Amino acid sequence: MRNFTFLLLVYLSFFLGEGYSQQKNNDKRENKPMWWKEAVVYQLYPRSFKDSDGDGVGDLKGIISKLDYLKSLGIDAVWLNPIFSSPNDDNGYDISDYRNIMKEFGTMNDFDELLAGLHKRNIKLVLDMVLNHSSDEHEWFKQAKSSRSNPYRNYYHWWPEEKGKPTPRYSFFDVNSDAWKYDATTKSYYLHYFSQKQPDLNWENEKLRNEVYDMMKFWLDKGIDGLRMDAFQYVSKDTTWKKYPLGYEKDIIKYYGMGPNLHQYLKEMNTKVISKYNIMTVAEGAGSTLEDAHSLVDEDRQELNMAYHFEIMDIGNDPKGYQLTDLKKAFSKWDQAFAKKGWLAIFLANHDVPRMVSKYGNDSPEFRRFSSKLLTTLIMTMRGTPFYFNGDELGMSNIKFDKIEDYRDIATINAYKSAKAKGENLDSFMDKQKFISRDNTRTPFQWNNSLNAGFTTGTPWIKVNPNYKTVNVAVEEKDPESELFYFKKMVALRKSSPVLVYGDYEVFDIENPDVYCYTRMHGAAKMLVVLNFSAKSISYPLDKGINTTEARVLMNNYKTQATILNHQVDLKPLQALVFQLN
Ligand code: NOJ
Repeated sequence: MRNFTFLLLVYLSFFLGEGYSQQKNNDKRENKPMWWKEAVVYQLYPRSFKDSDGDGVGDLKGIISKLDYLKSLGIDAVWLNPIFSSPNDDNGYDISDYRNIMKEFGTMNDFDELLAGLHKRNIKLVLDMVLNHSSDEHEWFKQAKSSRSNPYRNYYHWWPEEKGKPTPRYSFFDVNSDAWKYDATTKSYYLHYFSQKQPDLNWENEKLRNEVYDMMKFWLDKGIDGLRMDAFQYVSKDTTWKKYPLGYEKDIIKYYGMGPNLHQYLKEMNTKVISKYNIMTVAEGAGSTLEDAHSLVDEDRQELNMAYHFEIMDIGNDPKGYQLTDLKKAFSKWDQAFAKKGWLAIFLANHDVPRMVSKYGNDSPEFRRFSSKLLTTLIMTMRGTPFYFNGDELGMSNIKFDKIEDYRDIATINAYKSAKAKGENLDSFMDKQKFISRDNTRTPFQWNNSLNAGFTTGTPWIKVNPNYKTVNVAVEEKDPESELFYFKKMVALRKSSPVLVYGDYEVFDIENPDVYCYTRMHGAAKMLVVLNFSAKSISYPLDKGINTTEARVLMNNYKTQATILNHQVDLKPLQALVFQLN
């Protein structure tokens, strides 16, 4: 019976999900239905997903061998982190050839096969466009730094030494936080907001912009379905290079984000490229205000489809914990601001932050599984397009390396060097990395309990989380109570419930420090979500305004029956419940 219900939901998801957007695409209301609003996007980190040739690095053939797994999840689209040629200073976010595949990942033939295999299974593909910077090993940069008069010189930002020291600019990854690197050949400094091997492209140069648009068309003409725009809010620079006030780096998006010509470039890109394809576009970063975010994604702006902001990601970076009320307020504020117009991505994790269960949940052996399901429930019941990070469907948690030698991420390694140079306490630095380092989400995907979790037959480029013996696909596919089963059911529920995609969101009892309670309402359909984020049992009185007379449980992360009695729900630690109210 249980399986039958699940299959029915999956079945309905195809017809209701697709059909719903197609029927209503001519609707003139704001926030009109679109396929990319109804999609569940699965973020796949290629380096760590599946290695096919034993070199310890995930690759495209590895992904191809797991296409049926992707299909089994019920997701609609896969976002791949960069797969283009790269010396991997920043795991592919330093591109040396935008029209080729990274050697470790395979060939263009593999890419074509992967795209066809996804499309055959009705899964769309979103690629990561890294357009704020290239690699210093890109031909453009090699040319640009060969002489001041080289035709590619102006593809990057330079500061000639005769002008004296450049105006200070902050670099995210540089050991000295200095975004200007001196180049002796041409006696000039070049700009790099990220690492020294990631020089910033000069978007003020129309020739560069047109090259980028052509490159985007190259991939779109292959039939990809979407673009994730990496760090795009930074592309337009203030080229008067004015001095910023002391401490500006603490509020960096205000100074680096939404530069003077950003909208002009986006409109140009939209006219020349985006508008010619039925694709989804998502910006990483959304400026520093709600208005900034709207200016990127509102339909009448004709720029991008959606953005992800950092306000939720910025909550929970303190190993001592966070306040649930802050999380609720952030979700509620952004939902309210985008209720009528514009669209957002919803996520709790990606390759730049730790595992969601370790950050927002409770990864102790007792509660990890419940936490994982609870957070999955939150993502899948919010308005906005869910971006779900691979491995979270298994309940993967932070690896918490003890030694700096185990880390691979340039952000952690350079921050360590910097802390050491400043004489900071390295023990507390290491403790913090266990909680915040990006490598926590980058460990190999856990397929089974064989060597290296079935990820590779070689030596993995980064260590496997020792919990792979029990947290893995093979084990979870056999267990109807697993996180994986729960994830699939949650995806199927979302796909069959327009109320979870488009419905109005109303939060209740926002100051409650333990329970997150909200409803979603769309026409006559209404759902209630109750999430106990605490590790204690709670008798939770529901708001009097919620009519529960016909309530029935749709999702429950505990096996025990859940009921509403006297307008009150008994919640177990980390319990997540979704009710249909009518
Ligand atoms: C954002 C990406 O998500 C991150 O991984 C990368 O390091 C920076 N942009 C630089 O490209």
